[in-house]
Amino acid sequence: MENIPQHVSIIMDGNGRWAKARGKERIYGHYEGVESVRACLEAAVEEGVKYLSLYAFSEENWNRPEQEVLGLMELMMKAMKKELITFMDNHIRFVVLGNRARLSDSLNATIDEMMAQTAANDTATLILFLSYSGQWDILQAMKKAAASLPEKDFQALTPEDFAPYLVTAGIPDPDLLIRTSGELRISNYLLWQCAYTEFYFSDVLWPDFRKPEFREALRAYAQRDRRYGKVK
Ligand code: IPE
Ligand code: IPE
Ligand code: MG
Repeated sequence: MENIPQHVSIIMDGNGRWAKARGKERIYGHYEGVESVRACLEAAVEEGVKYLSLYAFSEENWNRPEQEVLGLMELMMKAMKKELITFMDNHIRFVVLGNRARLSDSLNATIDEMMAQTAANDTATLILFLSYSGQWDILQAMKKAAASLPEKDFQALTPEDFAPYLVTAGIPDPDLLIRTSGELRISNYLLWQCAYTEFYFSDVLWPDFRKPEFREALRAYAQRDRRYGKVK
């Protein structure tokens, strides 16, 4: 395929509706969604995508019923541990970004261990946004910048100077953002980083979004004309 995006990001949505349509508990949809993660990661690597990032849990998702939150956290822990072998075999670097202070000690320990173990892998990077929100990210970056820079330098900040304070420091902005399940919104995801990202909305629910659907999104991206405000 031509014109492959360097960074594809996905708002994985629709797990609950997928489960409900089958008369099952919402958590069942989240478990099935892990299979879609595996499929899309495989397709991304096959197509030469260097960064795949996934919105797995937003800051707002903490407001869901406790049972669902606990179920999701348990699922993340299990899925991460299970995938470590795959990441090592396929040279995939694994990164978690978000408000880590809200995660449990045991989950944080697992994340630290996995990030350390996969740090030198260089075929592709898989980023999981956990307890993340775009507004939180911009605020924490602003506070860090204000605390570390003299007032004069803070006032002189340009977008290029500011970006390294975001949790995505060093990661290129997404070229393509996919959202599944027919919702046409960004839900407080990468607000700063999506300044010039191409958006792709699919009606397919996340547990049904597999390799063919991922490849279809790449094909749609290949047709886009990115102008960055300029005249071509
Ligand atoms: C996306 O699926 C997964 C998370 C937000 C954690 P949802 O759980 O939002 O599923 P729907 O949108 O209710 O169907
Ligand atoms: C966005 O999905 C967050 C994730 C996919 C992790 P939501 O289901 O939480 O978004 P809204 O509430 O429909 O906007
Ligand atoms: Mg949803």
